[in-house]
Amino acid sequence: MPSDPDQLTTLPTTGKVPLRDLPDSIKVPRGLPPHLIIRFDRFITDADQERLRKRWDDVLASGAKHQSGKHSNHSANDTAFHFGIWEVTASEPYLTAETQSQTPKAITAIDALLRYIGDFIAGKIASVFETHAPEQWEFMQKAYLRVQTILAAELLTRPSLDFGGAFFAVAVKEGGSGLVHIDWHDCHAIWAFVFAVGDWEGGEFCTPQLGIKIPIRPGQVFAVLARVVAHCSAPVTQGRRIVFACFTDNLTVLHANPGLKFTVVA
Ligand SMILES: [Fe+2]
Repeated sequence: MPSDPDQLTTLPTTGKVPLRDLPDSIKVPRGLPPHLIIRFDRFITDADQERLRKRWDDVLASGAKHQSGKHSNHSANDTAFHFGIWEVTASEPYLTAETQSQTPKAITAIDALLRYIGDFIAGKIASVFETHAPEQWEFMQKAYLRVQTILAAELLTRPSLDFGGAFFAVAVKEGGSGLVHIDWHDCHAIWAFVFAVGDWEGGEFCTPQLGIKIPIRPGQVFAVLARVVAHCSAPVTQGRRIVFACFTDNLTVLHANPGLKFTVVA
C-alpha cells in the first residue's frame, strides 16, 4: 500500500468522483452513506472564497490563540483551530476551548468567520447532505435538536455557532496534514465537508488504501467519511491553502441517537 503521494494515481481535477468501496481487506461498519467520498464542483463562489480568506486573515490578526490540545481532533502535528460545538469525551455538547477562551477581539473575528460559513456555505452543505444521505441526515437532525436544547443560551449569545445541523464544528488551518490518519473523534456515518481557499498547488487528498489522490481545487467541496477512509494531504508545493473542515464529532451524533451502533463487520 503506497503512502508516498507521488506513487498514488491522481484523479481528474473536476467531476464528482463518487467513491463507494474500500478494498475487501479493510473492515467498514454497516449503516454508512452510499459513498465514502464525493466531490462537488462549483460549490463556493469566487466572492465567497475571497470573503472567507479575509475573515480568516482577520482571525489571525485578532491574535486568536490555540489551546493546548488534549482534545485535538486530528493528527498529532495538527495546528488547526477547532471552532464550534463538540462533545468528544463528555456527556453533553459544549463550545470548544478555542471558541470561547479568546479575547473579545478574537471572538468578534471568529464569529464573523463562522457566521459567513453559516450564512453562505452551511445551507448548501445541508442540501447535498440530505440529498445524498437522507438516512444519516435524520441522525443529524436529532443531534441538532439536542444541541439546540442543551446549548440554547449559548446559541442565543453566539448565533454564529448554529450551522443548521449540517455540522457542528469547523477546523481551520493552513497547509495540509502530511501524516496518514483516521479522524477518530468523527462519526463513522457522518461526512466531514472539506474545502480550501487560496491559490495553491498540490495539497491533494491522498487515500493510500485506495491508491489514489484527489485534487481539491478552489470552489469545490469534498465530502468524506474521515473516520473510515485513512487519509493525508500531499505537500502544498506553492501558494497559500486555507483548509476548512466542517465536521461533527461522534458523541454529538450517538448521544442523540441512542439506538445507533456502528458495528464493524468483515
Ligand atoms: Fe483528517
